[in-house]
Amino acid sequence: MGYLRKNIEKVKGYEPGFQPKETDVVKLNTNENPYPPSPEVLKVLTEISPERLRKYPDPIGDEFRQAAAEINSVRFEDIMCCNGGDDLLTIAFRAFCDKNRPVAYPVPTYSLYRVLAKLQNCRAIEVPFDTEFNLPAKLASTKAAMTIICNPNAPSGSFISIDELTSLADELSGVLLIDEAYVDFAEANCTQMIKEFDNVIILRSLSKGYGLAGIRFGYAIAQSNLIKGLMKVKDSYNVDAIALAVATAAIKDQKYFSETTEKVKKARGFLTEQLRDLGFEVPQSHANFVLARSKNSQAGEIFDKLKELRIYVRYFEMPGLDDKLRITVGTDEQNNKLIVALKEILSQETASPARDGNQQ
Ligand SMILES: Cc1ncc(COP(=O)(O)O)c(C=O)c1O
Repeated sequence: MGYLRKNIEKVKGYEPGFQPKETDVVKLNTNENPYPPSPEVLKVLTEISPERLRKYPDPIGDEFRQAAAEINSVRFEDIMCCNGGDDLLTIAFRAFCDKNRPVAYPVPTYSLYRVLAKLQNCRAIEVPFDTEFNLPAKLASTKAAMTIICNPNAPSGSFISIDELTSLADELSGVLLIDEAYVDFAEANCTQMIKEFDNVIILRSLSKGYGLAGIRFGYAIAQSNLIKGLMKVKDSYNVDAIALAVATAAIKDQKYFSETTEKVKKARGFLTEQLRDLGFEVPQSHANFVLARSKNSQAGEIFDKLKELRIYVRYFEMPGLDDKLRITVGTDEQNNKLIVALKEILSQETASPARDGNQQ
């Protein structure tokens, strides 16, 4: 004790979702893709040469940058590879924020932002969303060094229009980081904003749409001057040779990507309808999860009962979320198991007291 910086001593640290050791579970708690990555990924993995592993990887991952630039219709210099989207968030906090340079974001949102602000010892200006998760007007005037908008937002699945984010980028004096970790399941994205704005950074992840959460790969899209600045902050070799090869193969296989993301989107619609039929309030989601509000039963109790049945969803015991469950869209089979279990639980309709609250 006493060795750490005060703010590090105090911070609770990010709590990742529970990763059960057993495989015979229905795991709908951490927004992974229910489908495996492209078959091209497995081919690349089996072909990796020991020589490629003996040497350091390409420090800036040009092969991936080239492929990602083509797919996103931007320039190769506008891309920076990252060790997951979370790596980009860490890099951005280090690059833009400090004691005198606050971060701002609407809440509730991805809880890592708050943790990173504490680690960086910068003030976090948290502006509450309204109940419809509209963009809070106040965000335009916070004077933060960095404003983060998670779009689609987690855990609500809500989506803010490109027009609104364009106006926000125009009004801000600092950087606008748009976290598009879930955008592969939405109908639009903000990539083209980087052509007009030198203060916009887009975050992308291969963990969700590309089914590669285990490999840790994400990337930034921004004007090259900003990318050059961010590259000074990143670890020299922040993405390894295997991740680079795998991510490049995955992003090049757009056919497989479209097929699997479309399947998830279709299942999302079906799951939403079924949950609504069971009496949950489920706003339209633009991500690979839904946020279901239990109108008649305690969400925490349902979470516990599902867990007993080895069906894992996510429950956040915090104001505004403690009456809701965040449920990842799974395969049809997984979604059906969830619905059958929920029907059973709701039909029992127990009146036991509230639970202890576990954010797994
Ligand atoms: C909103 C949001 N942004 C970024 C990330 C980071 O994703 P990854 O580091 O797996 O690419 C996540 C992960 O769950 C997320 O939910």
